[in-house]
Amino acid sequence: MPKISDTTKGLSGSELERLALEGEGLGAYRQFWDRAAVVDSIHAISDQDDAESFEVSGHREMDELAPLLPPGGGAALEIGCGTGRVMQHLAPRCRALHGIDISAEMVEQGRRRLAHLRNVSFHVGNGYDLAPFGDESFDLVYSLFAFQHMPKTTAYNYFTESRRVLRPNGVLRFQVPNILRDDHFNAFHHFTQPYFVEHPYPMNYYTPSEVVLMLARAGFRVEDLSDGMAVVARKADDVTADVAIRERVARFEHPRLMAEREAQLAGTVARLAEANAEIERYRRRIAVRAANTLRHPLRRSR
Ligand SMILES: C[S@@+](CC[C@H](N)C(=O)[O-])C[C@H]1O[C@@H](n2cnc3c(N)ncnc32)[C@H](O)[C@@H]1O
Repeated sequence: MPKISDTTKGLSGSELERLALEGEGLGAYRQFWDRAAVVDSIHAISDQDDAESFEVSGHREMDELAPLLPPGGGAALEIGCGTGRVMQHLAPRCRALHGIDISAEMVEQGRRRLAHLRNVSFHVGNGYDLAPFGDESFDLVYSLFAFQHMPKTTAYNYFTESRRVLRPNGVLRFQVPNILRDDHFNAFHHFTQPYFVEHPYPMNYYTPSEVVLMLARAGFRVEDLSDGMAVVARKADDVTADVAIRERVARFEHPRLMAEREAQLAGTVARLAEANAEIERYRRRIAVRAANTLRHPLRRSR
C-alpha cells in the first residue's frame, strides 16, 4: 500500500498536473477541461505516448462497442467524447454517430480532426443532460474515461438521460474505476497527496454495487460488469440483474463472506456425498443378502 510520502507515487511535474478544479460548479469543470485541451489534449484524454499512438488507441474500445450496435449499424452517442479518439474508429460501423462534451475546446479539436467523417457530429453540452437529443433516438450510448471525472450526481443524471434518448432495449456502455480493486484503489490513493488539496483533480471512484444500484434506479438492467468495471446495461422494464451479475458484485463487496459461504457449501456437498456413498453401501449389502436368500432358500428354513 503506497504511503502519502512514497516517492514512487509522487507527482509527474507535468503542465497538466498544475491545472486545478477551481470550484464545485459545472463552470469550473468546463474551465478545467477547456484548459486541459489547450495545454495537452492528448495526455488529458489518455496515457498515450504521442499523437501517433493516440490515433490508434481508440481501436480497442471500438472492438468492444461495435458488437453492441444493431445489424446494419444504427445510431450511437458518446458522452464526454473529447476530441473523438474512439469515434474516429466507430464511425464506419454506425449510420450516425454523435459526441457531446462539456468542453468547447475539446469539441472544436474533435470537429477539426474528424471533419472528413460525414456521419459524425460533435455537440457542446451543458455538462449534465442530453438536451440536444430527442427521446428514443439512439441504439447505443457509451462513455469512456468521462463519468469518473464528474460528480456522481451528474453521472447519475446522464444515466437517466441515456435511458430517455435510447430506443427500447437500447444499450448503455461505460467504464468507471472500481475502488474495490487494489490497483484502482492505489490510483485513488495517489490523489490523497497534499498537493491535490491545493490542486483538486476531478476524479471519482465507484463500488460495483453503487453502479448496479444507480443503473437500476435509472431504468437499466446490468448485463455485464468486468473487474475493471466496464459495464453493459440495457434499457429495460425489469431491471433485476441476473444471478451471475449479483454474485459477481457480492464477490467484490464481501469477498470473505462469499469465501466462507463457498467453504460451507463445499462442506455440505462433501457430507451429502459421504451420506450418499453410505446409503449405496447399505443398499448393496441388502441386495447381496436378498440374492443369497433366493439362491439358498433352504439354508434359511433350516
Ligand atoms: C479523459 S477525457 C476522455 C475523452 C474520450 N471519452 C476518450 O476516451 O477519448 C474526459 C472527457 O470528458 C469530458 N467531460 C468531463 N466532464 C463532463 C461533463 N460533465 N459532461 C460532458 N463531458 C464531460 C471532458 O471535457 C473530456 O473531454
